This record gives sequence, C-alpha cells and structure tokens, in this order.
Amino acid sequence: MSEEGAEAVRAVRQRLSNVLSAVEQTRLRHVRRALRLVPTSGLRLVLDVGCGSGEPTLILGEEILAQERDAQVVGMDIAPQGPAKLRDAARRLGAARVHALVASATAPPFADGSVDLIWAEGSLRFAGYEPSLAALTPLLRHDGWLVFHEAVWLAEPDGVAGHELLRGARYLEEYRALARSHGLDLVSCMPLPHEVWWHDWYGPVEAFCRDSAFSNTPAVAAWAQGLLDEVAAYARAKGVYASAYMVTQKRGAPPGAPGSER
Ligand SMILES: C[S@@+](CC[C@H](N)C(=O)[O-])C[C@H]1O[C@@H](n2cnc3c(N)ncnc32)[C@H](O)[C@@H]1O
Repeated sequence: MSEEGAEAVRAVRQRLSNVLSAVEQTRLRHVRRALRLVPTSGLRLVLDVGCGSGEPTLILGEEILAQERDAQVVGMDIAPQGPAKLRDAARRLGAARVHALVASATAPPFADGSVDLIWAEGSLRFAGYEPSLAALTPLLRHDGWLVFHEAVWLAEPDGVAGHELLRGARYLEEYRALARSHGLDLVSCMPLPHEVWWHDWYGPVEAFCRDSAFSNTPAVAAWAQGLLDEVAAYARAKGVYASAYMVTQKRGAPPGAPGSER
C-alpha cells in the first residue's frame, strides 16, 4: 500500500473510531447483568484484566463499591494508554477505590489467594487462554470467581464459520474443559443478544463503510470492504454465534480443611 493510501486509511479509521465512541454502549448494561451471576457480598479485591480504557471497570466499581465499603477494584492492561484513561476517568468521577495498573495477564503482580473476583472482558483470547489462566487462577481465593467474556457457538456453525471473526469462537464444552484444566468450574454462561453488538458496532460500521466516497481511494475501499465482510459474517452467524459471559468458580476446599493442600 502506498504511503498516501496508508494515510487515507488512517484518517478514515479515526473518523470511524469517533463515530463508534459516540454510540451508546448498550453492551455495558450487560456487565451489570453478568455481575448478578456472582455473589458480590464480601468482595474485597476485584481485578479487571485487560481493562482497556476501563468502561466495564467503572461499572464494576459502581456496582461493588457502593455495597462493599472495604472493596477495591483494579483495572489492569498490558497497553498503558487504557489504564491512563481509566485513571483519569476514576479521578473525574471521584472513584477513589478504582485503580489502574499496567501489567500483563500472564504476570499479574498480586499475591496468591488475594483476589475475590477476576473479570476479563474480551481479553483472555488476546492474552492467551493457557498462560493467562495459569497465571490468574492462583491469585483467586479458594472459592473465588473468574468471569470471562468471549465468543461462543450456540449451535453447529454449518456454513458460517469461514470468516476470521468467527474463528475465535469455541463451544461451551471447550470453555468448560479449559476452565476445568485450570481448577475452575464453569457455573453459568450468559450469551448477549445478537442485537447488542449490532447496535454498538456492526450497524454503525456498516452504515459508515457504505459511504460511496470511499470508492475513490482504492486502499480505503479495500479497508471498508474488509469491514463489510466482517459485518456480513456477523449477520450470517445470527443464532449460532454470540459473545457470552462465562462464569467460573475456583474449585477446592478452604485452606486448612482436610484435603485442601493441593
Ligand atoms: C477487546 S479489548 C477489551 C477491553 C476492555 N476489557 C473492554 O471490554 O472495553 C482487549 C484488551 O486486552 C488487552 N490485552 C491484550 N493482551 C493482554 C495481556 N497479556 N495482559 C493484559 N491485557 C491484555 C488489550 O490491550 C485490550 O485492551
């Protein structure tokens, strides 16, 4: 791609990002719903892994800190710009018990057994399931919770699985086995309605990319077509593919109980 084409793509990508950030994030309502699947009384330390700029972290903070006077919520991401934004937002909102940290899910700076709830909103896949779960699970207290949000197959993906977007999805049983191999029980799964991502992402992306002005610049036209292909893949996968919250709980007896030394 020419330098001119790359610059044109950068500019149009920035415009799309502005459009998307102005869209109401309906998915965030579902963070509150998913949190209801976990007992929140008595939580003291909550870790949001791969927090990005921390919109879900702030919701966890709002929900948990109001009822738990000693609790702390920490958003953590490997890329520094996310935690920087979260820190600013928490300061603006006066959320003194919401903290932001730059660290990897594969090397989290917390003591074993010190965390009550780990939240991972669309981040485990990027961090790598195996190394991140191997590093995160020991941080949980003996019956702590780990909730992760990833793509799941609701039914056989006959004929719809060809696009890169859909290749990251797994069956619920695969998530259950993954969790079990790290000492976690998959307790429940809460898929989001197809319309949520349509509202927050695919609908606005499609409207933006259909702008006929893009066809004047081949590099931009190719970029827009790539996104339209993803939109089409998402539309085709309605009913068989969803993003879902997987709620898992650490297995094992309390420390000191017979047989608890594993
Ligand atoms: C899809 S974004 C989700 C951001 C945020 N959780 C949200 O829902 O808005 C995935 C995030 O995972 C972060 N990430 C990727 N690898 C990571 C790692 N090894 N450790 C921590 N965060 C990581 C990325 O920097 C990115 O912010």
